Amino acid sequence: MKLALTYNVKKETDEEISSSVKDAKNSVTSKYINRELVENYPERIDDTYAEWDSMETIDAVKAALESGGHDVMLVEADENAYERLKELKPEFVFNVAEGYYGASRESQIPAMLEMLNIPFTGSDSITIGICHDKSRCKEILSYYNIPNSKFFISDIQFDSNNLEFPQFVKPLHEGSSKGIYNSSLANNKEELISEIARIKECYNQPALVEDFIGGKEFTVAMLGNGENVKVLPIVELNLDFVPEGFNKIYSYEVKWFFDTRENQLDIFTCPAKVDEKIYKQIEKVCKDAYKVLRIRDWARIDVRLDKNNVPNIIEINPLPGILPDPRDNSCYPKAARHGGMDYNAMINAVLNEAVKRNS
Ligand SMILES: Nc1ncnc2c1ncn2[C@@H]1O[C@H](COP(=O)(O)OP(=O)(O)O)[C@@H](O)[C@H]1O
Ligand SMILES: [Mg+2]
Repeated sequence: MKLALTYNVKKETDEEISSSVKDAKNSVTSKYINRELVENYPERIDDTYAEWDSMETIDAVKAALESGGHDVMLVEADENAYERLKELKPEFVFNVAEGYYGASRESQIPAMLEMLNIPFTGSDSITIGICHDKSRCKEILSYYNIPNSKFFISDIQFDSNNLEFPQFVKPLHEGSSKGIYNSSLANNKEELISEIARIKECYNQPALVEDFIGGKEFTVAMLGNGENVKVLPIVELNLDFVPEGFNKIYSYEVKWFFDTRENQLDIFTCPAKVDEKIYKQIEKVCKDAYKVLRIRDWARIDVRLDKNNVPNIIEINPLPGILPDPRDNSCYPKAARHGGMDYNAMINAVLNEAVKRNS
């Protein structure tokens, strides 16, 4: 097939990196991070592009699709994307684009493709947009009684008197642990107010404030559609490996500073070692969430157990991260590997699910 791969890419040239390092050391975000981390990892402080893929990932996805016998054209999801797609007229699009601006930035390429009537992998513009706004996603889960933490949005309603601490504070519409730092766990009203201010200052958006769900954490890779949706082997996060002095959360610090290629944290177990009943409950809650949000083809769902061992949905990623190098500890490819698919097989499996759905 004649395919296009739509994507956004992180800054990569030496010049771009050195200017972002300079900015990073003085960036708003760096004010809130442990100073030692700012000194040791300046190139990683600026989380502006945390969600975007590296060229290594884009090349790996392209090579995987080519190994499936397809011709692949690269289309960067910038302001020229619509014209490019219109001109190139691909038969099908493999979409991993996160978009540039706005809460619905992940919906922009899907919306363009819908307008051009070009079929593509993954969820449609509505579902992608809803999942990207974590509160909208939680509202739907709650309507269907799918467990997720109680929450409020800082700009809409803020009554700290009836809150049970700790509370968890995150940007309303980001991913890749962007904006989720050790300080996101607020133990009292003062910390909560300061975290809400941090989100506003650094990310110019409201904060989502949630009850903290403190039990075991899992992430669940899903593949397929309708009754045939498959849950790949569940990945468990062993948060005990988070360095001492840091909260047991999968924060930006853990994801991008402590768990590096050179120095991998032994943070994941796949398949998860939990008793069978809980394993099944996690699978069920993820399938339910996938269904009510009308997710298509693939997604990765984060889950934590509450104090009664009930699996709660933390968030849903209809565009999961897919770093190709196993040393990068990317969870969708990890689950796929444990499910018997190497990187190329995984990418082509996603494409095949999308093609099947469209035929
Ligand atoms: N309500 C919560 N209770 C407990 N931990 C949470 C909660 N929300 C998020 N976390 C922790 O923060 C991490 C990142 O949050 P998440 O919403 O998944 O953000 P991202 O979209 O950046 O992955 C989770 O993997 C989990 O460790
Ligand atoms: Mg997550």
